[in-house]
Order: sequence, then C-alpha cells, then structure tokens
Amino acid sequence: MKNQIKDQWNAGLYDGNHSFVSEFGNELIKFLAHEEGERILDIGCGTGDLANTLYENGVNVIGVDQSANMINQALNKYPHIPFVVKDVLSLSDKNEFDAVFSNATLHWVKEPKQALICIYNSLKPGGRFVAEFGGKGNVQTITNEIIHQLKLSGVTYHSEQFPWHFPSIGEYTTLMEEVGFYVSVALHFHRPTPLEGNDGLRNWLDMFAVEMFKHATTETKERIYASIEKNLRNTLFTNNRWIADYKRIRVVGIKD
Ligand code: BEZ
Repeated sequence: MKNQIKDQWNAGLYDGNHSFVSEFGNELIKFLAHEEGERILDIGCGTGDLANTLYENGVNVIGVDQSANMINQALNKYPHIPFVVKDVLSLSDKNEFDAVFSNATLHWVKEPKQALICIYNSLKPGGRFVAEFGGKGNVQTITNEIIHQLKLSGVTYHSEQFPWHFPSIGEYTTLMEEVGFYVSVALHFHRPTPLEGNDGLRNWLDMFAVEMFKHATTETKERIYASIEKNLRNTLFTNNRWIADYKRIRVVGIKD
C-alpha cells in the first residue's frame, strides 16, 4: 500500500480507528461494475475489507499491499482470499486482470507514471482501472499546520519527508493518457472526512504522518500535536468531532 521503507503500519489501529477508509471505498466499488467470475486485483488492500466485499460478490479477487502487517491481518480475517505483500511497482506484466481497483493508496506512490505503466501492463485489453486517492489540496489544512509547527519548534523538515503525491486531475489524467488509458471518469471533489473521537486528529497523525515527524523527539512531537489541535480546533472541529479536509481524485481508465 504505502511506499515506505519500514513497515510503520499498525493494522489493529487501522481497523479500529480508520475503518472509514474502506467504508468510503464501498462507494468506489460501484464504479467497478464488476461481474461474477472476473479476475480483479485490489492494490493497497489494507486489511482486506473491500477485497472481501468483492469476493462475496463472486469476484476472483487478489489483494496486494506493501505492508506485511496489513497483509497478515487481512489473511487472519479472510483466509479464503489470496493476499500478497507486493508493491504496485513490482506487478508482473501479464495482461491478466479484468480490472484493477485501488482505494486510498496511490497517493503513497511518488512515481505515479511508473505505477500507471505497471497497472496498464497487468490488465487484459479492455480491462478497467478504477481508483480513488488524495488529489491536489488534500489534507492541506493539516499538513500546512504540521510544517508550520515543525519550523516553529526548530525540528528539521525537508520536503522529501512529505509522504504523499497529491496530483491535480489534469496532471493525473494526462499521465493516464500518456500510458495508453482511455479516461472515462475523472473527478476531483471535496470529501470532508470525520476522524473518530476526541483524539481523532492525533490518531490520524500517528497513523499517517509518521515520516513528517521523524526528526522530532517524542516530547517535542507531543507538544506539536497539542499546538496543532489548538490551532485547528476552530476550522476542523465541529459538532464534537474532527473533520479532515480530504480532497479526492476518482478515475476510471480503460486499457485501449
Ligand atoms: C487519503 O486517503 O487521502 C489520505 C490518507 C492518509 C494520509 C493522507 C491522505
């Protein structure tokens, strides 16, 4: 799922506090228009919930994720589904899938064109690529505040530590076309996303923004978390919960 060297992924925390990821993914599945018996690859399957939904719909699904922690949890939950530790950039060029599906993953891949080439080559002619992930401006209120607070605290931060690639819809669909896809759906939309509980924002930081804080001591990080919460409360805390400023890209491409 995520393009990082160390397996930072805590699959239990992911299932416990971040189940919204696969819940929103159910909406994306509608764009897949899958049929029974189709062979579908789920890239960045996490702990396997969406792959299992496809399996229950009669799909011959395979889930891949870069995190061994996620894959182990997926195998524990759904032992009847093949789940494999694999990076999108090491997919084999076998033209074997009717569709490739990916929810909330591709923003972790900083080589988007390479990833699109690998996806294209893994599809049968006429195969569909259906994906959703963070687009330009995604969680920018949060990341701007993180960077601001790191600077104020004198903590080293380099732009390469920004963990994600959030392209505009123009940038991404241009790459899709360059690779050979016919783009049939391209959306870029705001999707305010509730983060469960009073600690929703700091749980999100702990789960996803690890790389940004890698030069901070535990004590400094704790102080920065408190400042971020204080400064963002007015904008991102409503009706007793944190709402993250997610902006999604949703695309469907057909292999010409
Ligand atoms: C996203 O799904 O947009 C996302 C998730 C975690 C970190 C950054 C973005």
